[in-house]
Formats: sequence, C-alpha cells, structure tokens
Amino acid sequence: MNNIESIIKEAILQIKEADLKAIESIKVKYSGKSGVLTQILKSLSNCSVDDKKRIGQEANKAKNIIETEIELRKEALKKEILEEKMQKEKLDYSNKFYFPFTKGSFHPIIQTIQDISSVFKSLGFSIAQGPEIETNWYNFEALNIPQNHPARDVQDTFYLVGMKELLRTHTSPGQIHVMETQKPPIRVIVPGKVYRNEASDATHSATFHQVEGLSVDENITFVDLKAVLSDFTHEFFGTDVDIRFRPSYFQFTEPSAEVDMQCIFCKGKGCRICKNSGWIELLGCGMVHPNVLKAVNYDSEKYTGYAFGIGVERIAMFKYGIDDIRLFYENDLRFLKQF
Ligand code: DAH
Repeated sequence: MNNIESIIKEAILQIKEADLKAIESIKVKYSGKSGVLTQILKSLSNCSVDDKKRIGQEANKAKNIIETEIELRKEALKKEILEEKMQKEKLDYSNKFYFPFTKGSFHPIIQTIQDISSVFKSLGFSIAQGPEIETNWYNFEALNIPQNHPARDVQDTFYLVGMKELLRTHTSPGQIHVMETQKPPIRVIVPGKVYRNEASDATHSATFHQVEGLSVDENITFVDLKAVLSDFTHEFFGTDVDIRFRPSYFQFTEPSAEVDMQCIFCKGKGCRICKNSGWIELLGCGMVHPNVLKAVNYDSEKYTGYAFGIGVERIAMFKYGIDDIRLFYENDLRFLKQF
C-alpha cells in the first residue's frame, strides 16, 4: 500500500514537469499494458482474496488519479502552446514596425482661402456658400449683365445640356443668393470654385477660385470699401506694401475699381512679373449697382453697398512666388509638400 502511495507522488511530480512528448511515456510507464500499476494488478493473482480486493482497489484508484492528472496536464500544455502561437501571430500596431507615412496638409489653394477668410472674419464678415451650378439669372441677369454681353458667350461659359443651367463663371452670383435670403446689414464673403471655357496657360485655368465680398447697409460709402480692402491687403501681404485704387468697369458695380498692390517682387522698381509697371492687380471691386439691389427687391434709395472679387490663385501666386498656375492642379507631391 505504501508503495502505491509513493508511486502516485512520484508520478504526479513527473507529470508536472513533463512536456507533451514526455507525458505520453509517463502514461505508458504507469498505466500502460506493462506499466507499473498494471504489473501490480497482475501480481495479485497469488494473493489472498482480501488483499486482492484491498490492493486491487487502491491500485485502480491510483491508476485513475494518475490518468486524470495526465489529462489535466495535457490540456494545460495544449492551451499554453495555443496561446504562444496566438501571441506570435498577433499584429503589432506599436511603432516598432511603422510604415513611413507622412502627415498630409491642406492644398495651397485651400490654405489661401482659409487665410483670406480669417482676415475677413476678423473684420466682421461671415462666410456663405453658393452653388457651382447656376442659372442665367443668378450668374448674369441679376448682376446687371445684359443678354447680349460678350461674357455670356458660349466661348467663355460652360453651359449644361439644354442651356438652362451653367457652371458659374464667378462667385458674384453668391451676392444674389445672400441678398435673397438675408436683410441688411450684410457683411459676407463667398469663397468658391468658378469655371471658364478657356485654354489653360501659365496664368489661365478653366477652373479656379474666387472669394466674393459683399457689404450692404444704410450709409455705406466708397470709404468703407477702401478701408476694408486696404486692411485686408496689409494683413495679408504686410503693412509696408502700398496699394492704389484704379478706376475700372464691372456691370454690377458703379463706380468700379481695381486694387493694385506695389509689386512685392521688385518693390515697385519694375520687373518681369509686374510688366515693368511696379504694380500688380489684386482684385476688382466697387459700389453695388442699384440695378443689382433692385433685382433682389432691396430699396436702392435706402441701402448702399460695396462688393469685391478676389482671385485666389492670383493671390497665392504672389504670396508664394509661384509663376505657373498649372502647378496648383497637377498635384505633384514635390510641389504640394512645400506647403
Ligand atoms: N466677378 C468679377 C470677375 O469674375 C470680379 C468682381 C469684380 C467681383 C468687382 C466683384 C466686384 O464683386 O465688385 O471678374
């Protein structure tokens, strides 16, 4: 009986240490056909009935204990192996195996629109959006551009099938949308994409961007326009640049003007970029034409306003010293990464 006790203890010790291979030989050693316990059971044939029963029972019990321990150990070992395998196969998201991703940035045109917008926001303007698909009314008629005006020519305007709708040729229709839905006082900018049916070269593109500006209220004068646009130019290009207002013509403003800025490349001395004039054209502007106010049922006796239109690509080219507008649309990473 003592022998059986120590067989159990010895077997359990071995089982605890065993790996999957060793455990099979332990099984053979203790409960196999010629194993230790099987031997004991076989040797009982010469014993008394009493001993046969007593020792037989104990030996069978020991066999059960050892076999159960073996099964438990096998289960535990299999689990360990599986866990190890899963650990190895698990994806490691830590930066040990990182891919060389670099951070993206906003396109220079979007950045320029954001910069222009933040200057006007600081001057009390809000931001509105208009649709890119317009009708003749919004793009031309309401802006006092008569039916026979060359700007409406199919050469310049992309008409949609049926000729009823078109891709806006400027952001000025944004003025009409704003005035249709709001009452004065109005102080708003409308940034967006515009389209013109023209061949592209270093300074022209069929798609480009503008920021429209509009302010309407009682007693708005040209002085307000001058103040806002000179504030904008100085905020955007620096306080040391000179600007000038030059008389011009737009159908939707009267009087109209263009704002020139002293050439930032030659400091006004004259160079290739300013065509030796020392000045570069920045934007168009003027006092909102009474016909435009009438088109949106505003009282043109009571209200006055100013408007302006800024070409975003133009401004971005001056700001960053870029000499070909096409660079903005080619999306060459070597170009884009500089912003
Ligand atoms: N819409 C004009 C263009 O595309 C730009 C412009 C000029 C807008 C004068 C204005 C303005 O609001 O007052 O060429």
